[in-house]
Formats: sequence, structure tokens, C-alpha cells
Amino acid sequence: MEGFPDTLEYTGLNAPIGEEYELQGLAIDGRVPGDVEGTFFRAVPDPKFPPFMEDGGAVLSGDGMISALRIGGGKAGFAIRYVQTERHRAEVTAGRALFGKYRNPFTDKPEATGLDRTVANTTPVWHAGRLLMTKEDGRPYRVDPHTLATAGRYDFGGKLKSETVTAHVRIDAQSGEMFLFGYEADGLASTKVAYCIVDRQGNLSREQWFDAPYCSMMHDFAITEHFVLFPIYPTTCDLARLKAGGDHWVHEMQRDSWVGVMPRYGDVAELRWFRGPKGVSCYHMMNAFEDAQGRIQFDQCLSSVNAFPFIQRASGLNVAPANLGGRLARWSIDLQAGADGMTETTIGPPGDLPVIPASSQGRPYTHGWMLTMNQGLQGPPVAGGPVGAMFNLLLRLDFTGKPTLALALPPGQCFNEPVHVPSPAPGHEGWLLTMVDQQVGPADFEHALWIIDAANLSAGPAARIGIPHRLRPQVHGWWVSAAELAAAR
Ligand SMILES: [Fe+2]
Repeated sequence: MEGFPDTLEYTGLNAPIGEEYELQGLAIDGRVPGDVEGTFFRAVPDPKFPPFMEDGGAVLSGDGMISALRIGGGKAGFAIRYVQTERHRAEVTAGRALFGKYRNPFTDKPEATGLDRTVANTTPVWHAGRLLMTKEDGRPYRVDPHTLATAGRYDFGGKLKSETVTAHVRIDAQSGEMFLFGYEADGLASTKVAYCIVDRQGNLSREQWFDAPYCSMMHDFAITEHFVLFPIYPTTCDLARLKAGGDHWVHEMQRDSWVGVMPRYGDVAELRWFRGPKGVSCYHMMNAFEDAQGRIQFDQCLSSVNAFPFIQRASGLNVAPANLGGRLARWSIDLQAGADGMTETTIGPPGDLPVIPASSQGRPYTHGWMLTMNQGLQGPPVAGGPVGAMFNLLLRLDFTGKPTLALALPPGQCFNEPVHVPSPAPGHEGWLLTMVDQQVGPADFEHALWIIDAANLSAGPAARIGIPHRLRPQVHGWWVSAAELAAAR
């Protein structure tokens, strides 16, 4: 689009599209499994207006768009709309960008003063019949799951005190409760963290605040059957730096990581902090659970340094992708031991965007899926997304000793984060739905949703649904069954 810089953040797969549209009768190649009846909601950042200042973090600040890929009765349709955030509406009214650097209001135009800065672009969260578009720097926006119209900012009926809710919630499949948290809960660079429980009817039943060891990027967290875990990695914020017009995040290699552990239904006064390795970074956790001995096992897509190039630049770091030290790490925490330490075991390769069956959340589990880079692929990966390179290998990791399964894409193709669709058939592992982007020219791409047997990756897609329109890379997605959607009408 016109006026955007000629940089990786705004070209190729990342080229802004800026269009709301709806498509019916999508072409389906193969047979859509009968289990796959519902809507795949996706959060897609797409900047409406060119930036007025240079910002490495701009790739995270694209206006939130919500897309819905609806599948049912052998047919498929697609729609995408902007989330009408206060920020988006103000910029549309002005006809230009008003907000400056990623999470730095001191760089905004005067017209932006006092406005909600969030772009609600990270995860479409579904719980208790409500669809919320989330981003960790603000409160969610509620969106109509049928029309994708924005209803407005959501504060759980006036109950929520935290100014922020992260994009990664955890839902206990057995209780139906949603566990969520917000950091920088009372403002920029604050150490305040809010921990909330939302009951199965969607009522915010509990909100407690605590202080983190330092203000850090707390992107995700984890639950077990009886505990909640708050991991802290040393990507940190400083108010003086923000006031000077600097970046929100800097990664500090010399600082300890921490995991705060408390009983799920306990008091924040019971939080115990366990010390992890220095300098490590993680965006997404695969799962956590209590083992037979009562120890907490916490599985995460860990790296030895923050992998985002713009954060490394702001931190004076320049670590080559091969030296990131990525691994699926299991941190074992013994609550009975007096010490504050933990042990780490590597249980999988480098990767990110982990997925598990919703029924395994917080419980002992046997397998999960994630995306990674195919080391054997000839040629570079597709450029795009926040890290600058898209994943091209889908893995099924087994924690019972069975071999890892994989689905590799050829050069020029890449995966977006899959969602898991369960199957009611006994012994069937369900399906993975993932958008696959294919580069067909220097700036041309084609896109299709792949539906894959989750236990048989190498068979490739059982069905492909073509999207005859340009798509920008998605961040996270959420599957909502047709039955759940119907019940929410
Ligand atoms: Fe995330």
C-alpha cells in the first residue's frame, strides 16, 4: 500500500492489505471431515496508516483485524473486519497515524493523548459465549462472533480493575473456568500483575494483584490442576527510557528468570518464586501439570535470548538464529523442597506456537504440536511475521517415547499457527487447521487453509480451502464449534 516504508515490516507477506471483505463458496480441494463444523477465528494485525516515525516494534502494532473462516455442511466462507478500537477510530477520523512507537505513548501525536492505545491484534479468545480480541497492553474488545462487529471495550461488566489483560488465557476443560492475568496492570513499567478467575458463566469471580520481581514482558502463563504459574523472563521495561522516546522492551542477559507458583484458588500472599536461568526468553508455554510425585512440570518454547530482532537491537545484542539456543524445555519445580531452584530437561527441538488438545490443559499429557524451521530445507524461509521468518515445519511431539511426526513444506511455503479441532471418535486425535501461505512471485502470495489429521501429519492435508484474496500473517487463532456458536446466539 502507498506511503508505507519499504522494509520487511511492510513488504512481501507483511505488506499491508487494509481491506474488510467477505467471501462465500470457497473452493474446497479434498473432503472436509465431518468433525470440522464451526469457525476458525484469527487475529490478523494490519496497519491502516503508514507510521510517522521509525519503530522496530511496529510489526506488533498493526491494527487488529478479526477474520472468521466458517466451515459447515461441506461449504466454507471467509470474512475479515477491523476491530473498532478507540485507536483505530481516532486514526480513521484523522486520516493518518496518531500513535508513535510500540507501547510508548510519549511518542504519540497530541491528538492521541488519553486515548486507549491497544490495537487488540493478538488472540481471539472464546469463553462463555463471548468473543474477545486481546492484546497484552490493554483491555480486550468484545466482538460479535456472527457479524464480527465490535461491541466495544470489555471489562467483565465493570468488575475488572486491571488496565490490561494478556492475549494468553488458560481454560480448565473440566471446570470451564478461564484463568487470565494482566501485567503493567496499573500503568507503564509497573510491576503490578493482576490474576483473575472467570467462572464458566463468564463472571469475573476473583481478581488479585501482586508485584513481579521486576517489570517484564509476561506474554503467557500456565496452570496445573491445583496451581497457577507466572513465568518472568528478563525482557524489561523502564519508564525513564519510555519518557526519553525509547523502546518499551530491552532484554537483559544478566538477569535471573523466575517462576511464581501459587495455589489456583489461593491468595497471592502464598506466591513462591523459583529462580530460573539468567537471560532466557519464552513467548509461549506448551503446558504444565503435576506429576505422580506432586512436582510441577512446566513445558515451554524457551530460547537463550529474546528472539525478536528489534528487541535484540534495542538491547545491543545481535545473536544469529543458529545461536538462539531454542528448545522445548521442561522446568521441574519441587514445592516440597526448601530451595528456590528448579531443574531443566530438554524434551523437544526449537520451535514455537505450541498447541495441545483443550482437554489436556493443565493436566498430564501425552503429545502436542508446534511449528519450527525445517533445517533440511534448501533455500531461505518465507520472510514475514514479527521475527522476520515464517515457520515451515509442523511437528507432533510425543512425550511417551513415540517418535516425532512431521509435515514439511517445500521452499516458498509457510505455516501460520494451527488450531486443534477435537474428534468425538474414540481414539481419534482430531484435526489441525492451519493457514498455509505460498509465495508465487516476488510480492505475490496464495493462501489456503489446510485441514490435517493430527495423528498423521505426513499424510498432508485431508482438505484444502483456498482463500482467493491476499492475507497478512496471523498471530493467534481460536476454533469455536458450530454447536457453541449456535448456543451463543
Ligand atoms: Fe502469543
